[in-house]
Amino acid sequence: MPLTTVTGAIWGDEGKGKILDAITEEADIVVKFQGGSNAGTTYVIGGKKYVLHLIPGGALRGKRCLIGSHVVMRADNMCKEIDELGLDIDLGIDPRTHITMPYHLALDYAREKFRDEQIKKSKSNNKKSSGSIGTTLSGIGPSYEQQRSRDGIRFHELVGDKKRLEKRIRENFNYMKSMIENYYGQKMVMPDRKIIDSEYIIKDVNLTLKHCLEVAKHAGNKLRGYLADVSLEVHEALLAGKNVMAQGAQGTLLDICFGNYPKVTSSEPRATAVSQALGIGQYPDKAIGVLKAYITKVGSGPVVTCLDNQRWPVDEQFSDEVAKQIRAKGHEFGATTGRARRVGWPDMVVLKYSSRLNGFTDIAVTRLDLLAGIDPIKVAIAYKIDGNLIEDYPSWDMEALVKAEPVYRELEGFGDISKIRDYDALPEGAKEYIRMIEFWSNAKASIISVGPERNETIYRDFKAF
Ligand code: GDP
Ligand code: IMO
Ligand code: MG
Repeated sequence: MPLTTVTGAIWGDEGKGKILDAITEEADIVVKFQGGSNAGTTYVIGGKKYVLHLIPGGALRGKRCLIGSHVVMRADNMCKEIDELGLDIDLGIDPRTHITMPYHLALDYAREKFRDEQIKKSKSNNKKSSGSIGTTLSGIGPSYEQQRSRDGIRFHELVGDKKRLEKRIRENFNYMKSMIENYYGQKMVMPDRKIIDSEYIIKDVNLTLKHCLEVAKHAGNKLRGYLADVSLEVHEALLAGKNVMAQGAQGTLLDICFGNYPKVTSSEPRATAVSQALGIGQYPDKAIGVLKAYITKVGSGPVVTCLDNQRWPVDEQFSDEVAKQIRAKGHEFGATTGRARRVGWPDMVVLKYSSRLNGFTDIAVTRLDLLAGIDPIKVAIAYKIDGNLIEDYPSWDMEALVKAEPVYRELEGFGDISKIRDYDALPEGAKEYIRMIEFWSNAKASIISVGPERNETIYRDFKAF
C-alpha cells in the first residue's frame, strides 16, 4: 500500500512541480490534498514550460489525477486550466471540495488593503514591511474560513440542484459585500493582476452577483462529470497495492498552525496532514521534502537569513549582491503573481524544524545549480537571540525572529554543476552542503536537482514507491 508525499520544506516555490514530475513515472494516482489557486507550479518537459495551479502534475504523464476534499478549488480557474492545458485529463474531484468564488477574491483583496491602511495609521510601522500578509489574492483565506464557518459551497452543490445553488450564491455574495463595504470600508471589486514593464500592477474590476452566478453555472456544467469520492478511491487504490502520490502546494513554514502565523496561508501543507486531508487511515510510507538550495519567500514575515534587508515588497536598492544575482539568474519571481521573491542564505534551523513536522524520509534538493559562482556559501546553523544560541525554530515568536542573528558556517563555493548526473562527480563544497542537509533534516538527500528539466536530476538509490 505505497503512499508517497511530495511537500514543500520551507516557504513554497521550492520546485515541487519539477520533483513530482521527475518521479511520477510509476505512480497510478496523483492527488492534491490542500491549497488552491495560490499554488503556481512549473513543469519543464522537453523545453516546453507548463504552469499549473490546480491540476495535479500527474496530468502531464497521463496519470489519474484527483482533487482532495481539503483543496479550495477556484471554479472558473479550474475550467480555464483544463481548456488551456488541452489534454484529455483523467480527473476526479471530491464532492466535499470547497469552491472558491470571485467574492472570496474580493474579500481577500479588501482585507489586504485594510491591513495596509491600518499599519499606515499605527505607530508600529517600521517602513520595512507592509501590514498586509502579501497573499496571492486568490481568495484562499475566505474560502477556508467558509469551510470552518459551514457556509461554504462544496463541489457536490456546484454540480447539484441549480435553484438551491443560486440561493446559496446570492446569500454568500450579499454577506461578502456587506463585510467588504460596511466593515472594511472597501469596494466590491476583484483584483486583476498584471505585470507591465516588469512592474506588478493590480487593477480593480467591479464584481456583480450576475458574474458570480454565471461562473457557477458554467463551472457546474463543465465539471459535473469529474465528481468522484476521492477518499474512497484513494483508500481502495492503496488496498489494491496501487502507487499513490500526494502532491503538496505551498511550504511547511506557510502552515496555518506551524508557520509564521499570521503571515501564513490557510491550509496545512505538511506530509503529516495528508491522511487527514484526504480522508484515509494510512500515513505516508515515504515523505519527500522538497528543499530549495537557498531561501526564498513571497509575502511578508520574518526571514532570518534574508539578503534583502528584510524588506517586503523587495526594494533592490537595499539588497545584497548575492540576492540580486540569485534573483536575476534564477528568475525568482512568483509563478502566480509575478512578484519578486525575497532571497536568503540556506537555513538549517528552519530545515530541522520542517523535517520534524513532516517526518521527512527523503529530501529533494533543488536549484543547487544556482549556487554556482557564489563563494563562500553561508549556511545558517543556529540563531543568536538576545545573546542565547537557539537551534530550534520558534515559529510563533515573531519578535524573536525579527531580532535573531544567524550563525553561519561557510562552505567552499563551486562552479557549474548543471551537467552532472552522478553524485560522486559533484564538487566537494556541494557534497559538504548535502551532508549538512542530511544531518539537520535527519533524512536522506536522495534527489538532487540541477536544472528544471526532468532529466536534470541526480538520484542516490532512490525509489519513488
Ligand atoms: P513549486 O511551486 O514548488 O512547484 O515551484 P515553482 O514552480 O513556483 O518554482 C520553481 C522554479 O524552479 C520553476 O521555474 C522550476 O522550473 C525551476 N526549477 C526546479 N528545479 C530546478 C533546478 O534544480 N534548477 C533550476 N535552475 N531550476 C529549477
Ligand atoms: P506554491 O505551491 C510561495 C504565500 C503568499 C503569502 C501567504 C498567504 O507555488 O509553492 P495566500 O494567497 O495563500 O493566502 O497567501 O502565502 N504563498 C505562497 N508562497 N509559494 C506558494 O505556493 C504560495 N502560496 C501562498 O505569498 O505570503
Ligand atoms: Mg510556486
